[in-house]
Amino acid sequence: MKSDILVSASLLGCDLSNLGKEVNRAQDSGVDWLHFDVMDGTFVPNISFGQPVLEAVKKHAKVPIDTHLMIKDPIRYVEEFAKAGSKVITFHIEATREPLMVIDRIRSCGAMPGISVKPGTPVGMIKDLVPYVDLVLIMTVEPGFGGQGFIHETLKKVSMVRALTDKLDKKVHIEVDGGINDKTAAECRKAGADVLVSGTYLFGSGDMARSVGLIKGL
Ligand code: DX5
Ligand code: ZN
Repeated sequence: MKSDILVSASLLGCDLSNLGKEVNRAQDSGVDWLHFDVMDGTFVPNISFGQPVLEAVKKHAKVPIDTHLMIKDPIRYVEEFAKAGSKVITFHIEATREPLMVIDRIRSCGAMPGISVKPGTPVGMIKDLVPYVDLVLIMTVEPGFGGQGFIHETLKKVSMVRALTDKLDKKVHIEVDGGINDKTAAECRKAGADVLVSGTYLFGSGDMARSVGLIKGL
C-alpha cells in the first residue's frame, strides 16, 4: 500500500555477518531507504563502519542510501560518502562550525543534505538552516548506539521543526532516529515526522514486511 511515510532501515541493527542478505531482506520487506550510520569514536563514543562497507551495501541497494554522519568536521568526508553511493547525507550541527559550507558541499556532490540535532540540542540551533536542507533529523536517542529507549521529550522538537517546514514552499523531510518501533512510530508520525529510521525493531522482527507496515501506520 502507498504511504507518504518513509521507513529507513538502520543497518547498524542487522546481522552484519550477512550484510548483503540483510539488505535484501529489508528491501523485499518494503523499506524505502537504507540508513547507514557512520561513527568516528570522537563525535560519539563508538566506531561503526565507513566507505568500504558502504560500497558493499551499494552493490545490493535498490533503494536510496541515507547516510548519517556522526563524525567531527563532516566536510572532510562528504565527497567520499557521496561517491560511495549516498543519496542523502546528514551531518550534526554539533560537529561543525561551517554548516552552510557542509550543506553546499553535499549538494554539489549530487546528494540531498540533511542536518541533525542530538536530543539535548535546541531547534533554535538549526532554525535558520532549515530552508537550505532537504531533511532535518531529530535524534530520539543519544547518537552512538542502537537498541536504546526512545526519549519522549524529543517529540516537541519534531513538532517545532514541522511548524517551520510547513511554512516553506519546498519539501523538507523530518526524520527521527532511535528507539523507533510500532508504538513510538505512531507518536512520531503524529508529531509530524515522515522518515522513520528503525534498526533493532525492524531487523529483530520475524515478519519484517508487517513491521514496516506498522511503522507506516498501515
Ligand atoms: C544511533 C543510530 C541509529 C540506530 C537506531 O546512533 O543513529 O540509527 O542504529 O537503532 P535502533 O532502531 O536500534 O534504536
Ligand atoms: Zn542513525
